[in-house]
Amino acid sequence: MNIKTIFKKIDNDMPLSQEEVEFLLSASGDDMSALYEKADSVRREYMGDEIFLRGIIEFSNFCTKKCLYCGINSRNDKVARYRMSDEEILEVCRGMLSRGQTTAVLQSGEDPFYTKEKMAGLIKAIKKETSLAVTLSVGERDRDTYALWKDAGMDRYLLRFETSDEELFRSCHPDSDLKTRVKCLRDLKSLGVQTGSGFLIGLPGETIQQLARDILFCTSLSLDMIGVGPFIPHGDTGFGLENNPFPKDVFFKTVSILRLLNKIAHIPSTTAFDAIDPDGRNLLLERGCNVFMPNATPGKYRKHYLLYPGKPCVDESSEDCASCVIARITSLGRKLGKGPGHSLRK
Ligand code: 5AD
Ligand code: FES
Repeated sequence: MNIKTIFKKIDNDMPLSQEEVEFLLSASGDDMSALYEKADSVRREYMGDEIFLRGIIEFSNFCTKKCLYCGINSRNDKVARYRMSDEEILEVCRGMLSRGQTTAVLQSGEDPFYTKEKMAGLIKAIKKETSLAVTLSVGERDRDTYALWKDAGMDRYLLRFETSDEELFRSCHPDSDLKTRVKCLRDLKSLGVQTGSGFLIGLPGETIQQLARDILFCTSLSLDMIGVGPFIPHGDTGFGLENNPFPKDVFFKTVSILRLLNKIAHIPSTTAFDAIDPDGRNLLLERGCNVFMPNATPGKYRKHYLLYPGKPCVDESSEDCASCVIARITSLGRKLGKGPGHSLRK
């Protein structure tokens, strides 16, 4: 096996085998550089030089779930819980377009306070007042709920499957299972909602073989958006004493391989990469990514939405992140995405 024959397969839109994905994950030296460059050139050819900005509003940190990796899981009683009011959320949305942010991403824990009707009302209000695309990321709900939100104007939905290994999934999620998670993704897709998913890289005990399966499973879903990030142990969670089994390079290689296999997916350079490397998100934009999700949560709430320790931008304001991201785009010689940056699959 060698990297050139694998790249030929990519050029010919041929699927890769489990062994070939594992080979790419273990690439080092010149092969690793070649992988990053190939991902950058596939990104340029299929997605262009534009970087789309999706401002993320972390509007509630209440959560009913007990995921063992997550800092805001319901068992962590050190978290000061908050909910933003509809008006606060709308106020953030109103400021987005002038900052080049053409999508509002509304993210929260799984918070039943937001009934399907309440959420639908909020989506309608954002759509009425702004021309933003609206993405939700609020966890597992039933098909009818997703359908109501789609009717209210929701454009996209993000829900990571976290791991495609049923046993590992169970060991991280005491109150969920992989089948339900995947059903949610299928429901969303069948409703015509642009759907994003992805996984955590390096959950405790994960092997390179499992990671390669995650990459192939993720690809098999034909997603509109793909977001992945390294698992970072949080001291106040069930996995607080665990380690990420992989070296840093593996995180970056994972994203590059995803780009090679998902040429027209929107792939964000996710926040957790800045937690493991101060230059992480910038590097990813040169290794396959075409989307950036600046934190748009009002400053006073940020320190209460710590999914993992070392999360960047916690001491910054929305204005800081908005100007930081423009500076990043300029320094990389890329362009600001115009328009909503909808899926290319449609
Ligand atoms: N480290 C890295 N990412 C995490 N997430 C939750 N907890 C952690 C952690 N400890 C990610 C999950 C979730 C997304 C919103 O944040 O993948 O889907
Ligand atoms: Fe928040 Fe750079 S993106 S400060």
